[in-house]
Formats: sequence, structure tokens, C-alpha cells
Amino acid sequence: MKILVTGGAGYIGSHTIVELLKEGYDVVAIDNFDNSYPSVLESLKTITGKEIEFAEVDIRDKAALKSFIKLQPNIEAVIHFAANKAVGESMALPLKYYENNVGGTVNVLEAMQEAGIKNIVFSSSCTVYGEATPPVDENAPIPVAQSPYGNTKQICEEVLRDQCYATDLKVVALRYFNPVGAHETALIGELPIGVPNNLVPFITQTAIGKREVLTVYGDDYPTPDGTCIRDYIHVVDIAKAHVSAIAFMAQGKNKEAYSVFNLGTGQGNSVLEVIHSFEAVTGVKLNYKIGPRRPGDVVQVYASCEKALAELGWKTEFDLAESMRSAWAWEVALSKKAGSN
Ligand code: NAD
Ligand code: WQD
Repeated sequence: MKILVTGGAGYIGSHTIVELLKEGYDVVAIDNFDNSYPSVLESLKTITGKEIEFAEVDIRDKAALKSFIKLQPNIEAVIHFAANKAVGESMALPLKYYENNVGGTVNVLEAMQEAGIKNIVFSSSCTVYGEATPPVDENAPIPVAQSPYGNTKQICEEVLRDQCYATDLKVVALRYFNPVGAHETALIGELPIGVPNNLVPFITQTAIGKREVLTVYGDDYPTPDGTCIRDYIHVVDIAKAHVSAIAFMAQGKNKEAYSVFNLGTGQGNSVLEVIHSFEAVTGVKLNYKIGPRRPGDVVQVYASCEKALAELGWKTEFDLAESMRSAWAWEVALSKKAGSN
């Protein structure tokens, strides 16, 4: 079975390609390298021992996308990662996000329809839940989005649902909680361009000396240690869930044409717990200080993952310590590479 992976050079896309190839799927990937580098393809080849079928295609270019897909007559499913994901940037540049994330998804769906491809796995986000009462299950209400980025995920889910009603499309939307960590080989991982927005890359960059100090955004929240709580999930667990979602669709197990699943660990950890786990696992003392709250942060969110276990047969294998260990190994590998250039 051949799978088209959009955004295949990115953080989650690259890890998913490894797991798909491992399970015997054929993969063709596209990316425009807006937030990734072509060298990822070399790393994928080293990890898998396989040549990665790849084309540089921008999903905003509908004509290019359609003609590329026409040349690939045997694609049976699409895993659609390609999108912009920086919440803060989306506040400043909302149209960039609506064009790429929503417009790009519409283009992918049109190209699929034209080519007769009937299965898609979509990257959604726990951000659609906003401030919810954890553990959050898939039936939790979807409030007005807090950011244009979050809104693009809500809108894409609706677009996908509508396309299911109108055609014989089948969709699995996966709502990721906080993906962290890296591949065990330390050959692929998260590559934040510029100053990272997310906690774990900020931790590893501070520990390696790229950043002077990590600011903990607020310690006066109503949580046991006063810092915010999130559900940090290892990226390889996320990648494996995509393989499970493809198998679920291939075996026709979808009860509904449109299915949605949370991908989390089911466990919440505070910012201070993450920092302390990092320090314990790596033996590195982190330079951090307590700062003011970051506007827009929810107090606590973590997933109920029962639906993914019951229907996809998927559950996480890695814990927070392994996420921290692998994120650190990846940061160390990156700095060695930079040093040798
Ligand atoms: P990423 O930026 O590492 O990967 C996205 C890839 O898509 C990049 O390689 C980028 O170059 C590519 N891309 C962007 N626009 C494109 C376009 N127009 N045409 C072709 N390629 C394009 O991000 P990621 O963390 O791997 O996220 C993948 C998906 O998961 C995104 O849809 C994101 O919104 C979603 N998601 C991510 C997180 C997270 O915290 N990482 C959480 C929830 C959901
Ligand atoms: C985690 C915690 C911060 C940085 C974001 C997106 C969400 C989803 C996942 C895509 C929070 C704290 C962070 C720092 C800190 N992505 N923090 N100092 O905000 O849960 O979610 O990524 O869909 O949409 O919003 O993740 O990693 O930014 O923050 O104290 O320098 O770490 O306040 O409590 P978040 P994050």
C-alpha cells in the first residue's frame, strides 16, 4: 500500500515515514522545506536503509500538486502534515495560516478527489479544546479558537467532515497533545528555525548554551506546583499512531466516515516536572527563572486516550524520561554537526 505524506521532511512527518517504511508501506513524500531541510531525507535513508521517494511540492500550488499526484497512480491514502504551526506567528500573520493550512488542505482534498484517493489522516491538535477539564476526551466541546492557528485546525476538521458527507472520503483526524523527543538514532528530531516557541526545544537549547536562560511562564497557576500542566507525548508514539490509523482505514474498521482520536499519554506534567525530569535524566543543571504568565496559556490539559486504544489498538510506549533523553541526544547531535561545519 502506497502512502503520500505531505510535510514529510518535518518533525512528525519524518518520524512517521520511518515507522511506515518499517511496517512495509510504500511512501512518497512531499514538502516545500518552509520549516525543514532537505538533509532530513538523507537521515531517513540512513535510518531506514531505503531511498525515500520525494518531490519538492508546495501544497498551495494546486496545479503542481494535482499533476504530481497524477504521476502517482497507486497512492491509496494521504497523511497530511504540511502546515504552519507557530501560534504566535499566526496572530501576526493570520492570512498566511488560513492560506497554507486551510487553503492547502482544500487543495490536497481536491487533488485526492480528482485522483480517486479515498483515505486521509489529518494532523489536528489539542488546541481545538482550548481550556477544557482534563482528562479531555474527543466529545469535549470545541470553543471559539484562541488563535488563527487553532482556528485553522477547527476549520480543517469541519472541511474534512463536510467532504466525508458529500463524497466517499474516509478521514481519521488525530488531535496531538504536546509532541516531544526524537528518534533513538538522534538522526532526526525537531528542528525549530529561530527561537523555539515550545518548551522542550527551549530547554535543550538552553542546556546546550544556545539560549541563556529558560523562563518558566508563571508559577501562580492553580496546580500543585503553580506551573501549567500539559500532556507531553513522544514523537515516535505519535508516528506509530499514524501507522495504526492507516491500518484501521485499510481494514475498513472505521465506524464513521469521519473519525477523530486524541493522541496523548493520558498523563499531565507541569513545566517544573518536565525541567526536573530533564535534569535527572541528563545530569545537566538547567538555568531557568520564573517569569510572568504567557498570554493565552491554558492552565492544564491532558488527554483521555481510551478511544485510540479501543479502536486503533494504539497506546504509548515511551515515558517522559525517554522523551527528555532523546530530545537531549538530538540537541547534542545537532550541536556536534554545527561544530563540524
Ligand atoms: P513541522 O513544521 O516540523 O512540519 C511541517 C512540514 O510541512 C515542514 O517540513 C514544512 O516545510 C512543510 N510545509 C509547510 N507548508 C507547506 C506547504 N505549503 N507545502 C509543502 N510543505 C509544507 O511541524 P510538525 O511539528 O511536524 O507538525 C506537523 C503537523 O502536525 C502540522 O499540521 C501541525 O500543525 C500539527 N501539529 C503539530 C504539533 C506540534 O506541537 N509539533 C501539535 C499538534 C499538531
Ligand atoms: C508548554 C508549557 C508554557 C516555553 C503549543 C501549541 C499547541 C500545540 C502544542 C500545535 C506551557 C510553558 C513554554 C517556555 C515555558 N501545537 N513554557 N517556557 O503552549 O501547550 O502548546 O504546542 O498544534 O497548539 O499552542 O506548548 O511547548 O509552547 O508550552 O514555561 O519558554 O511550557 O507556558 O505551560 P503549548 P508549549
